[in-house]
Parts: sequence; C-alpha cells; structure tokens
Amino acid sequence: MSLVPMSDILEKANKGGYAVGGFNMNNLEALQAIIEAAEEENSPVIVQASEGAIRYIDMEYAVAMAKAAGEKASVPVALHLDHGSNFEKTIQCIRNGFSSVMIDGSKLPFEENIDVTNKVIEAAHAVGVSVEAELGKIGGTEDDHTVEDKAATMTDPDEAVEFIEKTDVDALAIAIGTAHGVYKGDPELDFDRLKTINEKVDIPLVLHGASGVPNDDIAKAIELGINKINVNTAFQQAFTAKMREVLEDPDVYDPRKICGPARDAMKEKVIEKIRLFGSNDKA
Ligand code: G3H
Ligand code: ZN
Repeated sequence: MSLVPMSDILEKANKGGYAVGGFNMNNLEALQAIIEAAEEENSPVIVQASEGAIRYIDMEYAVAMAKAAGEKASVPVALHLDHGSNFEKTIQCIRNGFSSVMIDGSKLPFEENIDVTNKVIEAAHAVGVSVEAELGKIGGTEDDHTVEDKAATMTDPDEAVEFIEKTDVDALAIAIGTAHGVYKGDPELDFDRLKTINEKVDIPLVLHGASGVPNDDIAKAIELGINKINVNTAFQQAFTAKMREVLEDPDVYDPRKICGPARDAMKEKVIEKIRLFGSNDKA
C-alpha cells in the first residue's frame, strides 16, 4: 500500500495501549532492515529520516526508496521527517512525498513554538500529512542537533495542555529525562511527569532518545501513555558492530558481504524493539 500518515498508526496505538517505533533510516540497508522486521512481526512502522539523513541519501532517493518499500510492504508504513528544524524543511518534505513531518520548535520560546507548529499544521493537514511537535528540550546529540545537558529542560505539563489547546498537532514529543545518542550515565526518567502529562493530554505522546533506556523503563513509559518511541543510535551500533566483525577478515572486499550481515544484525535489533513496544501483530 502507499505510505500512510503517522496519525493513522498512532491513533490505533493510543487506543490499544502500545507504542510504534519511529525508526531512523540512514541508508538503503537500514530501510530494508526496518521493513523486513516490521513485515516479519506484522507491525505498523514509522520510517523516519533526519535532515542529515536526507542530505546523505538525497531527498528524491530517500522518498523513492521509502515509497517503494511502503508499496511492497504488507504492513502500514509512514515516512516521517525527524526533527524538522524549520517551516521550509517540513514543506520540502511534504512536497516530495513524506506522509508525516516533525517540526521541532523546542529551541524557540513557547509562543513561537506554537506559531511555527500551527504554520506547518495548516499546510500539512491540507494535504493529509500528519505533524509531530516537541515541547521541552531533549538533551544529547543527533546528527547536527545538540542540546547540552544544562540546556535540557523537562516538559511542563501545564504548557503541554496549553500547547495542545492552541494547536491541532497529531503527536507531541516530550522531555522526561531521555537523551539522544549514547548516555553518559544511567537515564533517569521522570515517570510522575509523564503520568501527569498523559492525564491532562489525550493525543499520542512521543519518547525520543530511547536507545539507551532500559527495557523495564520503556515498558513503564508505554504503560503511562507513550505511543511512539524513536530509536536511532542502537541500530547504528548494531549495524557498525557487525561490519567491524566482518571486516576482521582482510579478504572481504565485496560491500554486499559487509553491508548484508550488518543489515541482518540491525533487523534483529528492530525485531527486539517492535516486540518490546508491543506493536507486533498490530498491522
Ligand atoms: O529522533 C530520533 C531519536 O530520538 C533517536 O534517539 O539515537 O538516542 O535512539 P537515539
Ligand atoms: Zn529525537
């Protein structure tokens, strides 16, 4: 089937009390790993590309690859822009065929975040594209997007209510103590904050920076209302670890013999996450 808006997938997850992975595509093999895993697990899936990934792959290649994957797949697939940095970038993705975009206005003052989110929503919803926004600042690094520890701020539950009242956003990324990339210490999630936000807000909530979060904490976050979980670093690590292993043999030179096993290793990781998030057999 063709690419579906992310809201189709997340509304069901919200009702069903499970989460769907927002899995980052950084190259063809990553996309194949995500789709193969989702099909094997009969899971809906959100394939997402950051601005850095789009620069690396090329916009037209990225969309063509994801569209082909969506059309061939037996499960619903959304193509989502991860951390769109401004209005223009989100519109470029919509114009090129993304079925969903994130506008990350978390670095802006509250009112400006609302304004830019509304601007994107007006254009996106007019053509059936769903929108994720972010409130609070998630620490760590992803691509060229870094938030220093001291600048990271948790999402204020009352601000979340006001944000939802003033926008028609489809999903909201919240900051409750996770960070992008490799964790320096153990992540400490503020579950009380998540519980409060979820009691006050009824749209799907998104957890970013989930790679280094222990499984028990992920399960608890889903129980408390998280419906989309973003994973990138853990997949990159699985992919690269397998490449290193294969490359120990100095006679290997065929890229397919290096990238193929790396793709399989990533696929196993994706399957593990799908089962943990509870989206298996929900397609
Ligand atoms: O937006 C993408 C994610 O939040 C991924 O974070 O690389 O820490 O898994 P991660
Ligand atoms: Zn993120």
